[in-house]
Amino acid sequence: MGDTLMGEIQRAASLLAAGELVAFPTETVYGLGADATNPEAVARIFAAKGRPADHPLIVHLPGHDELEHWAVDIPDTAWELAEQFWPGPLTLILKRAAGVPDAVTGGQQTIGLRVPGHPLALDLLRQFARQHPGPRCGVAAPSANRFGRISPTTADHVRSELGDRVACILDGGACPVGIESTIIDLSRGRPVLLRPGQLAAEAVALVAGCEVERPGRADDAPRVSGALESHYAPRTSLRLVDASRISATLRDLRSQGKRAAVLARTASPGLSGMAKQWQQAPVDPARYAHDLYANLRQLDESGADVILVESIPDDAAWEAVADRLRRAAAKGG
Ligand code: TXA
Ligand code: MG
Repeated sequence: MGDTLMGEIQRAASLLAAGELVAFPTETVYGLGADATNPEAVARIFAAKGRPADHPLIVHLPGHDELEHWAVDIPDTAWELAEQFWPGPLTLILKRAAGVPDAVTGGQQTIGLRVPGHPLALDLLRQFARQHPGPRCGVAAPSANRFGRISPTTADHVRSELGDRVACILDGGACPVGIESTIIDLSRGRPVLLRPGQLAAEAVALVAGCEVERPGRADDAPRVSGALESHYAPRTSLRLVDASRISATLRDLRSQGKRAAVLARTASPGLSGMAKQWQQAPVDPARYAHDLYANLRQLDESGADVILVESIPDDAAWEAVADRLRRAAAKGG
C-alpha cells in the first residue's frame, strides 16, 4: 500500500475518532461510517442520509474477537459463521450487550455486526481501533447513499449522493461484490435470513448445520430499512419485463410519447435503437450483481421516462439480485 493511501487512512481514522463521518469502501458497497460508541457521531449518519433515527445500523469490526464487546448470549453458530465467512459479506444479528448505545441499534435489543472483507476497510478499522480508548470499538456504517436510494459502489457515487456531508471519502475503486451483505438473524434461536446477498443462505445453512428460515414479508419490515418494499430505488420508475415482451413494451411506450432505458440480459439485436439508452448486463449472477447499481444509476441519469429491466431467472443463484430488483420496482411504475 502506498504512503499516500496509508496517510489517508490514518487521517480518516483520526476523523472517525474525532466524531466525524468517513465514507469508505467495503467489498459489498461503500459505507458511511461513524464511531459506533459516540451517539453524536452516529446521529450525524442519520442526518446526512436523511434516514429515520429508529433504523438500526450495522457495526463494522476489525476482527471477530470484537464480537464479545458488542453481543451477549453468542451462539456457537455465530462463531462458526464468523470463522468461516469473516472478513466477508455477512452480517450477523445478535443480542446486544449492555451499554451498547441505542443510537446504533435503533433502540432494539439486537445488534448487527460484521467484519468487512475489503483491505481498505480493514486497515481503517484497525487504525481506528488503535486510536480508540476502551475495549468496545467499532464503526457504525450504513450504505453511503441518501435514504431509500441506490447504494454506492464507487467513490464517485458517494460524492454525488453525499458530497460535502462527509469529512472524507476513501476511494477504493469499484466494490467487488456490488450489493449489500447477507443478513442472518441469530437472535431467535434459529438462523433467519433478513436480507439475501452474494453469500447464499445455503452456504450459511451448511455451516450452521440447519436450515435458514426465510421470514414472511411483513415480519420485521418496519425496523429493517433494507426490507422496506421500496428500497434501493432509482428516481425513474422501474419495471421488470420478460425478454419476450421488451419489444412490445418499447412500442407501447413510444406510442404514449415515452422513452425507456433498458437493462437487458439476453442480447436482442435490433431493439436497442428503440430505447433512449440500452445497457447490456452480464449473464452471470455475480457479475450482474457487481454492475447492478452502477447500471441503474446510469439508466436513471439517461433522462428516460421509464427503466425497463429484463426479468431474471427464477433460480437460487439470482435470489439477492431478484430481491434488489423487486424493491427497486416497488416504488410504482
Ligand atoms: O453490505 C452492507 O451490509 C453495507 C456495508 C456498508 O457494510 N451496509 C449496509 O447497511 O447495507 P444499511 O444500513 O444500508 O443496511 C443495513 C440493514 C438495514 O436493513 C438494517 O435495518 C439492518 O441491516 N439491521 C441492522 N441492525 C439490525 C438489527 N439489529 N436487527 C435487524 N436488522 C438490522
Ligand atoms: Mg442501505
